[in-house]
Amino acid sequence: MPDAYILGIESSCDETAAAVVRSSEQLISNVVASQIATHQPFGGVVPELASREHLRAIVPVVRQALAEANQTYDSVDAIAVTQGPGLAGALLVGISYAKALAFALDKPLLAVNHLEGHIHAVLLEERQKGNHELQFPVLALVVSGGHTHLYLAAQKSEGWTYENIGHTRDDAAGEAFDKVAKLLGLGYPGGPIIDRLAPHGDPSAVKFPPAQIKHRDRRDHRGKDPSEYKEVETDQPRFDFSYSGIKTAVLRYVEVHEMQASIEIRRKALAKIPKPKLEDYLANCDRRTLDLVASFQRTIVEDLVGKTLAAARACDVASLFVTGGVAANNELRATFERQGAQDGVPVYFPSRPLSTDNAAMIAAAAYPKFLAKDFAAMDFSAEAGLVLR
Ligand code: KG4
Ligand code: ZN
Repeated sequence: MPDAYILGIESSCDETAAAVVRSSEQLISNVVASQIATHQPFGGVVPELASREHLRAIVPVVRQALAEANQTYDSVDAIAVTQGPGLAGALLVGISYAKALAFALDKPLLAVNHLEGHIHAVLLEERQKGNHELQFPVLALVVSGGHTHLYLAAQKSEGWTYENIGHTRDDAAGEAFDKVAKLLGLGYPGGPIIDRLAPHGDPSAVKFPPAQIKHRDRRDHRGKDPSEYKEVETDQPRFDFSYSGIKTAVLRYVEVHEMQASIEIRRKALAKIPKPKLEDYLANCDRRTLDLVASFQRTIVEDLVGKTLAAARACDVASLFVTGGVAANNELRATFERQGAQDGVPVYFPSRPLSTDNAAMIAAAAYPKFLAKDFAAMDFSAEAGLVLR
């Protein structure tokens, strides 16, 4: 197989990222410009601001990724970019720049699904470690701020195929982390903060009812093209998730225990500290808040691990991938490792930098498309709701 140096570009949400990856097996450079500081005062990603920040960052980030890889615009073999899913305006910045580069340099252009990227982050790092013996079929849990998806992934001669056997009916797991952190005055993004605070509370202090999946799927996962209806029509049993109920349960708990005034004090105190450290968070959290945070995380982790392992058993998979921003969570990793080992299923995670959004995963996922000459037409566009299959 020919070697290829692929420049990856990712701008689907709040990170502007570029990377150079060789042949899906060697990460050569990986640059991520985070917009956390921009969105922090709003407690979540503001789409307009995200597009503006991508416009500011895209050129220097790509230049840095090339420089760190000792590559030039001319020396790379192809340009890969995230097509979707994500924020349309944010995606368009990366796509427009990738198209301009591919056109000016006369290089192949590759369009990559962001979710496929998260799955290939695991494959890239396993190959880089020298592990070429991964056992298939693979079940991949992609768990991030926008997604909680289970895919059966298979390698076919012409590339990869994915079958969705579960997704969230409402909020994604990362979204629940972010909303609960905001609700408790802890700031944004919530996942990393809750991850660090949870070990300081009692995870059995607050009992949350298990996620109830009664209502119809409130998110329309289907595109306008009838062929895209495929994702919801599968022969496999479904393993869906739901995380809006626990967010409401946390809100109820806060109201019943009259925590609002102390939350406001915490929010103001933390807002004054430019980059709060763990000690700052702890100094501003009472026992009840720490117990609530620990119990919330435990409930989400047990639900994610329980459903994913049930799906792994039902589908008789040989390996499990856990990827996406929430895969950086310490308790989630430890629980998956422990319970996966009990079930005899090896569990693979990306390193933490490749768990959250990055462009190395986009460049890695693009390589099979490069080999198959599955190039994107110059008129392809961003697809905010792009389905993976
Ligand atoms: O994959 P990602 O960077 O962006 C999306 O595609 O959404 O994931 C971001 C999400 C955010 O919701 C963030 O709070 C969550 O991942 N996250 C975490 C951790 N690090 C990031 N959640 C729990 N524990 C973490 N350590
Ligand atoms: Zn992501």
